[in-house]
Amino acid sequence: MNGVTGRMGYRQHLLRSILAIREQGGLDLGGGEALWPEPVLVGRREHALREIAERHGLTEWSTDLDAVLADDTIDIYFDAQVTSARVEAIKKAIAAGKHIYTEKPTAADLDGALELARLARDAGIRHGVVQDKIFLPGLLKLKRLIDGGFFGEILSVRGEFGYWVFEGDWQDPQRPSWNYRSEDGGGITVDMFPHWEYVLHELFGRVTTVQAHITTHIPQRWDEQGKPYAATADDAAYGIFELDGGAVAQINSSWTVRVNRDELVEFQVDGTHGSAVAGLRRCRVQHRSATPKPVWNPDLPATESFRDQWQEVPDNAEFDNGFKAQWELFLRHVALGEAYHWDLLAGARGVQLAELGLRSSAEGRRFEVPELSL
Ligand SMILES: NC(=O)c1ccc[n+]([C@@H]2O[C@H](COP(=O)([O-])OP(=O)(O)OC[C@H]3O[C@@H](n4cnc5c(N)ncnc54)[C@H](O)[C@@H]3O)[C@@H](O)[C@H]2O)c1
Repeated sequence: MNGVTGRMGYRQHLLRSILAIREQGGLDLGGGEALWPEPVLVGRREHALREIAERHGLTEWSTDLDAVLADDTIDIYFDAQVTSARVEAIKKAIAAGKHIYTEKPTAADLDGALELARLARDAGIRHGVVQDKIFLPGLLKLKRLIDGGFFGEILSVRGEFGYWVFEGDWQDPQRPSWNYRSEDGGGITVDMFPHWEYVLHELFGRVTTVQAHITTHIPQRWDEQGKPYAATADDAAYGIFELDGGAVAQINSSWTVRVNRDELVEFQVDGTHGSAVAGLRRCRVQHRSATPKPVWNPDLPATESFRDQWQEVPDNAEFDNGFKAQWELFLRHVALGEAYHWDLLAGARGVQLAELGLRSSAEGRRFEVPELSL
C-alpha cells in the first residue's frame, strides 16, 4: 500500500477498508475460507510509516518500493500517492506481475491512462480503480429508484459538489497544497470529473458530450509551511454533459463555494414521473402524484415550504463504507476471479472526461466524448 501516510491512503484505504476487513475476521470467501489482507506500508518517510505501523500493530513497512515489488509473496500493488507519482509506480508494479488497485485519476492524461490499461491487459493481471461514489448510501438509494422505474423518463441531473477550502493565510487549509498546483497533478477537474464520469455512466448513461467552464477563482494560497504560492490549478469547474439515452447533466464542482445544502455533494434527478435529491447518505423523492403546483408571483412571499414536500427514502439495508465495499469486491475478483468492471479502462474514461473538459473550457467548444477501447 503506497501512499498510506496521505489523507485517502490512511483514512479510507488502510483504516476504513483493510484494517476494517481484518477487524471483521477477514473477507469471507465462502466454504469456510477467509481472505486475510496483510498490508505492507510503503512510502517515502520512514518515521511516518513506522509510526502508523506501530499505532495499528502492523509489522511490514518499507521506503523501498522496488524491494517490495520484488517480493513474490506480495500479490497486489495499491496506489494512493499524489497523482503525479502514480503512472511510474504502477508501471513498475505491472512489470513485477502484481495485480493493481489504485486511486483515481489513474494518470495525468488520457495517453498515460490508456497505456496503463494496455500494459495491464498484456500482463494478464487483475486491476481496479477506486470509484467510491457509487457505493455511497445516497447513490445506492438513487440507483434503487432508477432500477425500480420510479423516474419514468429521466430528463436531467443537476449535481452540486463543493465547499469552501480555506486559503491558508488565516485558517489552515483542509486540503493538501498540491491540489492547487497543476504542475503537481492538482486541479478540481482532474480530481472530480473522473468521479462524475462513472457516476453518470453507471446510473444514467455514458457521457457523450462535454462542455465546461473551468477557472481558478483564488489565484494565491498558502501551503503547509505557511508560505504563499501561486494557485496554478483550477478550483471550480462548471460542466454540462449530454448522456446516452438523452438526459442532460449539469454539475458544478467548486472549492470556492459556501455550503447551503444538506450534504457536500447532492444530485437532483428530474424524471417525467418523479424527482429525487440524493446526497452522500440521504435521498429524498417527490412523486408526480404528490407534486405541488407553485404559481409564480413575485409580489407575494412564498406560502409553502418546498423542502418539506419531499419524502425520505428509507435505508432498507445496511450500508458499509463505500471504499471498503469496493475493496472487498476487488479482493474477491483477485482471489476468486469474480467479475469486476471498475478497471483501468474504466479509470481511463474518467481521465478522458477531465481532459476533454479542460480542452472544452480552454477552447470555448463543446466536445464529443469518443468511446474508448484498447
Ligand atoms: N476517491 C476519492 O474520493 C479521492 C478523494 C481525494 C483524493 N483522491 C486521490 O487520492 C490520491 C491522494 O490524495 P490525498 O488527498 O490523499 O493526498 P495527500 O497529499 O494527503 O497524500 C499523498 C500521498 O502521496 C505521497 N507522495 C508520494 N510522492 C509524493 C510527492 N512527490 N509529493 C507529495 N506527496 C507524495 C505522500 O507521502 C502521501 O502519502 C490522489 O491521487 C487523489 O486524486 C481520491
